[in-house]
Amino acid sequence: MIPTPSFIVDCSAIERNMCLLAEVKKQTGCKILLALKAFSTFGLFPQMRKTLDGCCASSVDEARLGWEAFGGEVHAFAAAFSLAEMKNLAEVVDHITFNSFAQWELFRQLPKSREITVGLRINPEHSEGHTEIYDPCARLSRLGIRRASFAGHSLEGITGFHCHNLCEQNAEPFARTVEAIEEKFGDLLPKLTWFNFGGGHHITREDYNVDLLCDTLLAFRMRHPNITTLYLEPGEACALNAGTLVATVLDVVENERPIAILDASCACHTPDVMEMPYRPRLFRDPKWAGEATPSPQADKGGEVGEKPYTVRLAGASCLAGDVFGDWSFDTPVKTGDRIIFEDMAHYTMVKTNTFNGIRLPNIALRGLDGEVKVVKRFDYSDFKGRLG
Ligand SMILES: Cc1ncc(COP(=O)(O)O)c(C=O)c1O
Repeated sequence: MIPTPSFIVDCSAIERNMCLLAEVKKQTGCKILLALKAFSTFGLFPQMRKTLDGCCASSVDEARLGWEAFGGEVHAFAAAFSLAEMKNLAEVVDHITFNSFAQWELFRQLPKSREITVGLRINPEHSEGHTEIYDPCARLSRLGIRRASFAGHSLEGITGFHCHNLCEQNAEPFARTVEAIEEKFGDLLPKLTWFNFGGGHHITREDYNVDLLCDTLLAFRMRHPNITTLYLEPGEACALNAGTLVATVLDVVENERPIAILDASCACHTPDVMEMPYRPRLFRDPKWAGEATPSPQADKGGEVGEKPYTVRLAGASCLAGDVFGDWSFDTPVKTGDRIIFEDMAHYTMVKTNTFNGIRLPNIALRGLDGEVKVVKRFDYSDFKGRLG
């Protein structure tokens, strides 16, 4: 019996994603990096490294993890780095992308013992995002240098550009983004040898147009033969539908409808459900053995009123709004039942917190042979250690 609460990452689901990404690499010759911000469960890195060329980091600590545990190329980008951070990064990264000419000037003055490739993040001022907080091209964005800000600056020492402006998107928004980049920055592209098209490509989603992605990358390379290396740095697509969070119902209290209180917390363990917000898919199944997706006999959570028994699923913290949402099931939800939340590997395990002293979920891996092993249990020291 898998203890709860636990995140379970399913190696066969990761493998399925890696096979698709390997196909994109094969068809286009591009390089693919894992965006560590989305998924940093390093026990899976050796498996992912067989397909991916390296990883991209948003901080010194992520870069160090990539360097220590992933291998391959380590790239870094952040809105700004302190001088101390730049010094530390210079020891572990191969590529660094700056968000301004001022940051690049600061870095170029540092003595360096290793060769580091330098790029600039551009803002093509072309929005594809529907949610402003996830749109790097939204008005007043701090992310990326706009075309007008290139005036008066030399690109000497810069070998590539980076552009990230998608979020959970299909290939059509990517194709339109490439057009916008060429329109705004076309005159600068002949000076580059690489281009990084960021993340947000939902490549491993069932309806993703992989052919259009590949055609767009190949056509871009044909038009710009000097740009010999293309990068994609998806996070979500690497770990999409590859992990679950399993929780046990501790009690069922009554209001206008039954409210099941879980041994997991939405605020602590799945904060994106509240922040984004979104409604996770979930199910109950006494025969479940750690798979990332439900079997045909699972009791999948339906919309309110869709199935006979509607229940609210809530967390154990003090926050009144610590609520996952309302779902309906074939039978009443009772104390001791297990609820399995789907698609919890990316942007969830990396975002947990210990608000209220609520313990972090265990981390378990379901191997390619189907065996589930708990690889990490947290305790009081994890709560105390980050507070003083
Ligand atoms: C610069 C950069 N690269 C890559 C990613 C990964 O995006 P995703 O996980 O949506 O593929 C992000 C996400 O915010 C990002 O900001």
